[in-house]
Amino acid sequence: MRAASVSDYRELARRRLPNIFFEYIDGGAYAEVTLKRNVGDLEALALRQRVMQDMSQLDMSVTTLGQTLAMPVGLAPVGMAGMYARRGETQASKAAKAAGLPFVLSAMGVCGGEEVAEAAGVAPWFQLYMLKDRGYMRELLGRMKALGCPVLVFTVDLPTPGARYRDIRSGFTGSSGVSGWLNTTLDGLSHPSWLWDVGLHGRPHTLGSVASALQGGGRSVTDFLSWVAKNFDRSVTWKDLDWVRETWDGPIVIKGILDPADARDAVKAGANGLVVSNHGGRQLDGVRSSISALPAIADAVGGDLEVYMDGGIRSGLDVLKAVASGAKACFIGRAWAYALGAGGEATVARMLGTLKSELAVAMILTGKAKLRDAGRDLLDS
Ligand SMILES: Cc1cc2nc3c(=O)[nH]c(=O)nc-3n(C[C@H](O)[C@H](O)[C@H](O)COP(=O)(O)O)c2cc1C
Repeated sequence: MRAASVSDYRELARRRLPNIFFEYIDGGAYAEVTLKRNVGDLEALALRQRVMQDMSQLDMSVTTLGQTLAMPVGLAPVGMAGMYARRGETQASKAAKAAGLPFVLSAMGVCGGEEVAEAAGVAPWFQLYMLKDRGYMRELLGRMKALGCPVLVFTVDLPTPGARYRDIRSGFTGSSGVSGWLNTTLDGLSHPSWLWDVGLHGRPHTLGSVASALQGGGRSVTDFLSWVAKNFDRSVTWKDLDWVRETWDGPIVIKGILDPADARDAVKAGANGLVVSNHGGRQLDGVRSSISALPAIADAVGGDLEVYMDGGIRSGLDVLKAVASGAKACFIGRAWAYALGAGGEATVARMLGTLKSELAVAMILTGKAKLRDAGRDLLDS
């Protein structure tokens, strides 16, 4: 199949990846109500068609935190991308760089910051989860700063992981011992191209940025993940942002805001940006969609810091809807993970090209030549 859309990349990833990894990417928390809302609420927004405007020159670039992006899209932090393609984080970051977009490296990446920076020739934005060991956190932040990571994305909506039924059913979480080993081995063996590319030649399968903290964390990448989950610091409050600042003097973006009151607290705490996000519907199932939360948050704090959003972006039309609803830029998670699983760097590059041409069509047919001027007048309410 020649992929035309993000849902096609999803289908290709489903065929190529072992079941446990496809379900891990594709799934959400509990009954996946919020996951469906993220996509459904974006779909439900209607754009206003306008005609006979001069659309000969389009400008979709946007400047965020001192960086000019070719379009208002970034690659959201996605854990364990190195299990979807060989050294997956390096491949995706190269595709992002070629497209003029930022790549946010997950703290749960298989490849560490050093490997990604070397492969792409540019340091990634770095995403942080707060672990209990502050000494280690300080060392990690110092390392990423020294590497030249321009922005720290501090994820605040995962003090504990939300239960994902699909991961339990697939054996990704909660299955250990011989039956767990057998399950993952058979899953890998039934996907030979993945087994050759990633299973055999994509090693080591650790979590590169945090591996040194995980001595004794276990043998497999899923063991590592559950070790990290047990070590999330649930006592973190806004005061801890001061602590982060002592080690990190660059811009900080808070990821995982869904309520205007929290957005105002982020401003008070000195954040430079925030991502309106429910973690792609992977945490608290039943909360509202990101796109529906965005306008009130942009109204409340858009003048004080940069407001971004993620959750449910599956096309260039969705990008325009997010910007029109108040986001300076949006981030994609599953869209790039599917493309990576489907075919690595070249496929991520193709998918980003598709988003860009869809965005161009949407701009032309809504009569908005300069994307940075886009506002709610683009939406038919
Ligand atoms: C497989 C997967 C792994 C993720 N891992 C992380 C992570 O390590 N850190 C983080 O802050 N967010 C993580 N996220 C959430 C994304 O950064 C983002 O918020 C979400 O994917 C956006 O929704 P979308 O997938 O509908 O685009 C992950 C999402 C997925 C799908």
